[in-house]
Amino acid sequence: MLVSPSVLSCDFGNIQRDTLMLHHSVADWLHIDVMDGVFVPNISFGFPVLQAIRKHTDKTLDVHLMIANPDAYLEDFKKAGADILTVHYEACPHLHRTLSRIQELGMKAGVALNPHTPIEVLSEVAHMLDLVLIMSVNPGFGGQKFIAAATDKVARLKALRTAHNAHFLIEVDGGVNLETGAQLAAAGADALVAGSFVFGAADPAATIASLKSL
Ligand code: DX5
Ligand code: ZN
Repeated sequence: MLVSPSVLSCDFGNIQRDTLMLHHSVADWLHIDVMDGVFVPNISFGFPVLQAIRKHTDKTLDVHLMIANPDAYLEDFKKAGADILTVHYEACPHLHRTLSRIQELGMKAGVALNPHTPIEVLSEVAHMLDLVLIMSVNPGFGGQKFIAAATDKVARLKALRTAHNAHFLIEVDGGVNLETGAQLAAAGADALVAGSFVFGAADPAATIASLKSL
């Protein structure tokens, strides 16, 4: 299992310390949640924070854009250090162009699906995707309750991947803990995002290791 702890739940007054903790943990990626107050009803952070994180780790930065009009900023995210750039299906009227541009810039391209969005909308781009991010909460906040329907969605997405001979990784974001993570692992998830479960734990590094072993 690939594990991508969400920096959204870290202590921003100690971002260097928390980034280094993740760097030295068995986490595969660092999940970076960018929110603009337009696409989602919350504002998180932007380029300066991403650059600050980049300075302290060479691990893969898994950047989740919860912003309207992501096309305007793709190059800026590359410059700020993003390795995987995931846009929301619901924010991209020209998704094929957006994904092509992300890959031309030298990043892996992901698409996130809100809980209400069916997986079938990805059929025509499945072959070109590096990652699909299944939202198991409505995006905007850490610490929300897992929406159980996400588990079956992962299983169906895995079947869609096979049917299209596609190779994207399946990542799940929102309300992930050991219990929901085990269900997602059984359904075929390749990567798990976890924010409050990791940073709310007494031993975040050990918690990352426990998710890794699912
Ligand atoms: C939610 C974000 C998530 C968030 C997950 O909109 O996309 O990445 O940090 O937080 P938890 O794991 O607490 O649900
Ligand atoms: Zn996220």
